[in-house]
Amino acid sequence: MALSKERVYYKAVRQAITALGSGESLKEKLDTIARLLSRSFDTGVSIVLFDSTRKHLIHTASWKLPPYYLRKGIIDAEKSLAESAGEKPVFIEDVSTDPRIQYREMAEKAGIKSILGVPITSGEEGYGAIRVYFKEVYRLTNSDISFTVTLAHLAALAMGNTAAEQENKAGILPLNMDPGISKTSRIVHFAHESEAEFARILDFYGINWIYEPRTFPLVNEKERASEMFTPDFYIPSLDLYIELTTMKQNLVTGKNRKLRRLKELYPEIKISLLYKNDYDRLLAKYGAGPLAQSRAHSIRKVLFSASEIDKRVRQLAETISGDYRNRRPLLVGVQRGFLCFMADLMRQITIPLDLDFMAISYYGQKDEVSVTRDIETPLTGRDIILVEDIVDTGITLDYMIKYLQAKNPSSLTVCTLLDRRARRLVNVKLDYVGFEVPDEFVVGYGLDYHEEYRNLPFIAIPEIKEFPQK
Ligand code: IMP
Ligand code: MG
Repeated sequence: MALSKERVYYKAVRQAITALGSGESLKEKLDTIARLLSRSFDTGVSIVLFDSTRKHLIHTASWKLPPYYLRKGIIDAEKSLAESAGEKPVFIEDVSTDPRIQYREMAEKAGIKSILGVPITSGEEGYGAIRVYFKEVYRLTNSDISFTVTLAHLAALAMGNTAAEQENKAGILPLNMDPGISKTSRIVHFAHESEAEFARILDFYGINWIYEPRTFPLVNEKERASEMFTPDFYIPSLDLYIELTTMKQNLVTGKNRKLRRLKELYPEIKISLLYKNDYDRLLAKYGAGPLAQSRAHSIRKVLFSASEIDKRVRQLAETISGDYRNRRPLLVGVQRGFLCFMADLMRQITIPLDLDFMAISYYGQKDEVSVTRDIETPLTGRDIILVEDIVDTGITLDYMIKYLQAKNPSSLTVCTLLDRRARRLVNVKLDYVGFEVPDEFVVGYGLDYHEEYRNLPFIAIPEIKEFPQK
C-alpha cells in the first residue's frame, strides 16, 4: 500500500520534470503541476500566486475544485494560510475549527475537511503556494509532505526559468509583481503583441496588473469542467478583469458567448471587454497602432449643440459656486482639451477663484509618465477643482489625482465636462459631470482627433478615415 503511493508520487515527479523541460507556457506548466498533484492525492488542488501588490493571492491553476470554490475569488494574503509568506508547509487538519481559514463556510460547502499548504519559493523569492484540499480529515504522512514540497520546488523553478529565459527579450514584463520593483523576475510570455502593448501602457501609468490571472470553468457544479475562460488581465486596484479581443471578427462570436456564460455563472465578477476598435482607439490616443495615421474628415453627428453646452456649463458653475461659497477654489486644467470648458465655466462661477494649468507626458513620449508642465501655485491647504474635458479610461485622471493629493491640498474634487463611463479602466470619483457620452470618440469644444476639430463650437462624433492616402 505504502509502496504504491510512493510509486504514484515518483511517477508524478518524473512527469512534472518532463513538463518543465517542455516548450509549454508557464501557465501550462503550472496547470500540469496542479493536475499531477490532484491526480496523485485524488483530490482538489490549487496553485495560488501573489498579485502585483503582494496583498492578494490568485487561483492560477486549479484541479478538481468546485467552480464556486474558485469563484470565492481573490484571497487576502494576510488573512490567508500563512504558508505562502513563510518557508514552511502548513497543515490544517480540521477546517471546521481552525482559526486560520478565511472562507470557512465556502470550504465547508465544498466538503473540504483538511488543507495542506506549501509555499512556492526560490531563494528569497516567494511566489505563492500550493494548496491541497482533502474531503476527509486527512492523516498526513512525511512522504505526502516531501512530495508536495518537491512539486512546489518545480513550480518555483518553472517561474524562475520563465524569468531567466525572457530577461533579454524585448517587451518582457514581470508577472505578479510591480514592474518597477523587479524587472528580472516573474516574466510573462504574452500570447499576443497587443497584450504586451496594453501591459506597457498600464506600466507607463503605474497601474498594477496581472496577466491571465485566473481560469474560470464555464460549467455547472455537476458538469465536467471542459470549457474554460481565462481573461487576459486583472487590475487589482479595480477588481476588474480585462479581455482584449483584437482577433478576427469570426472568432469574436465564440468569445462573446463564453463571456455571457461567465457573467451568468460568476455574476459578481467585473469584466471589461476591449474590442479591436476600442483598443485601436486607445492606442491611437498615444500615437500608436493602426489608427495612428487616421484622420477625422467630417462630422457624422452632433451630440451637444452650443446652446446645450452653455446651459449645462451654467448649471455646473452654479453648483460649484454654492459648494465653494466661503472658499476660494483653485481650478486646475490638464493638457489642452479643457480650454473651452474652463473658459466658459470660470466666467459663470460667481465666487473668487484662482487658475492654473499642468501637463503630463503621454505614453510613447517617455519611459514613464511624468509632469511636463507643473502647477506654479502652492497647493498646501488649497481647495482644488481639477477640470477635465473628458474622462475615458480614467488613467490620466488617476495619475493627476495622486500627483495633486501628494501636495497636501485641503480638498480635491473633479469636474469633467464629459464622462465616457463604458471605457473606464481605473476607478476615479467624479464630483461634477456635464454629460455622459456614448462609447464613441468625440470632437469639438476643445476636444480634438489628431489635432483636428478642436475649434468646433459644439460636440460631435467625427467620421474617421483609417488610412488616408497622402
Ligand atoms: P483617459 O486617461 O483615458 O481617461 O483619457 C483622458 C484624455 O484623453 C482626455 O483628457 C482627452 O484629452 C483624451 N480623450 C479621451 N477621449 C477623447 C475623445 O473622445 N475625444 C477627444 N479626446 C479624448
Ligand atoms: Mg485631457
